[in-house]
Amino acid sequence: MLLLSREDIKEVFTMQDAIEVVKKAFCLVVEGKCDIPLRTNIQAKKHDGCFLFMPAYAKELDAASLKVINIFPHNIDNGLPTSPAQVFLIDGKTGMMSAVLDGTYVTQLRTGAATGAAFDVLAKNDCRIGALIGTGGQAPTQIEAMLAARKLEEVRVYDLNDERTKEFADRMQKELGSYGARIAAVSSADAAIEDADLVVTVTPSIKPVFDGTKIKNGATVSCVGAYQPHMQELDPAVLPRASKIYFDSAEAVLSESGDMLIPLEKGIITKEDFTGDLGDVLLGNIKGRESDDEIIIFETVGVAAQDLVTAKVIYEKAVAAGAGYRWK
Ligand SMILES: NC(=O)c1ccc[n+]([C@@H]2O[C@H](COP(=O)([O-])OP(=O)(O)OC[C@H]3O[C@@H](n4cnc5c(N)ncnc54)[C@H](O)[C@@H]3O)[C@@H](O)[C@H]2O)c1
Repeated sequence: MLLLSREDIKEVFTMQDAIEVVKKAFCLVVEGKCDIPLRTNIQAKKHDGCFLFMPAYAKELDAASLKVINIFPHNIDNGLPTSPAQVFLIDGKTGMMSAVLDGTYVTQLRTGAATGAAFDVLAKNDCRIGALIGTGGQAPTQIEAMLAARKLEEVRVYDLNDERTKEFADRMQKELGSYGARIAAVSSADAAIEDADLVVTVTPSIKPVFDGTKIKNGATVSCVGAYQPHMQELDPAVLPRASKIYFDSAEAVLSESGDMLIPLEKGIITKEDFTGDLGDVLLGNIKGRESDDEIIIFETVGVAAQDLVTAKVIYEKAVAAGAGYRWK
């Protein structure tokens, strides 16, 4: 069994790799080629946390996986990841465990890559300004995915926590400087989204994090944080202006995300406003962007197929490169 740390994974797998792999995962989901039983959720109310167990199996890939991801929101105050995780990759022919991967990093990569895939497929070609709201654990790969998908001049970042916003902008400028964009901390979400072509929200917020009337025509918005019915980042005010709304998985989003469930319940939108899954656009079953003026929304809550396909490809690349630690 191969043990793959964050550093091992970085050695063999890029954000561009992740974007291509996640596109494959989204296609498997809409083709019904991935068994994804409902995840098991055990609450740890004493610490406002929960333990999540996310299994997946794809016959076509001869591989199965189980991600154990635990959400402990107070960890951020102690310098720990708020969603520590491991991914177990299993050989689908023998049932033997192939690898254990740093699941915190796999999650960051595949969640960033969902945004990257959406922007790659749905954003207009000519994008100059990006906006990122939320600068926590998932934010670095979100910003990298944005930069990998389009050649941007500037990305504006905002977080409720001022100190974190500034430290994040400086760190990202150093780490992602080779993409050629200026990464700037701003003092409000509305300053971040003003004139932005690409917008990412990645917070655990329970109320909208920006003013939807200020999203400009032609923008593509990726909403990443709202994975429970009471959670909401997207201002419903933008929905009547949006011409298309896509999901990583309609089934998952419409059972979990307040971004869609709350405006549905209030009658601001109906199910007829939903365009479909990104995998269907990738497979040519439904249309993507049709003009540079359209506002397009992408909602992702994450599906276990992303973990499975990402882990499988990382494992194959690591074996080929001789990376990781072989545990006998
Ligand atoms: N879609 C997916 O596949 C997926 C995967 C992993 C995590 N998530 C979710 O994404 C969200 C973010 O994850 P994380 O690990 O980065 O969380 P985190 O706790 O590390 O960081 C969240 C950040 O958001 C900021 N924030 C909260 N409310 C805000 C607001 N209104 N405006 C601006 N900033 C605000 C916080 O100050 C914090 O810095 C969580 O809800 C998490 O569960 C989604």
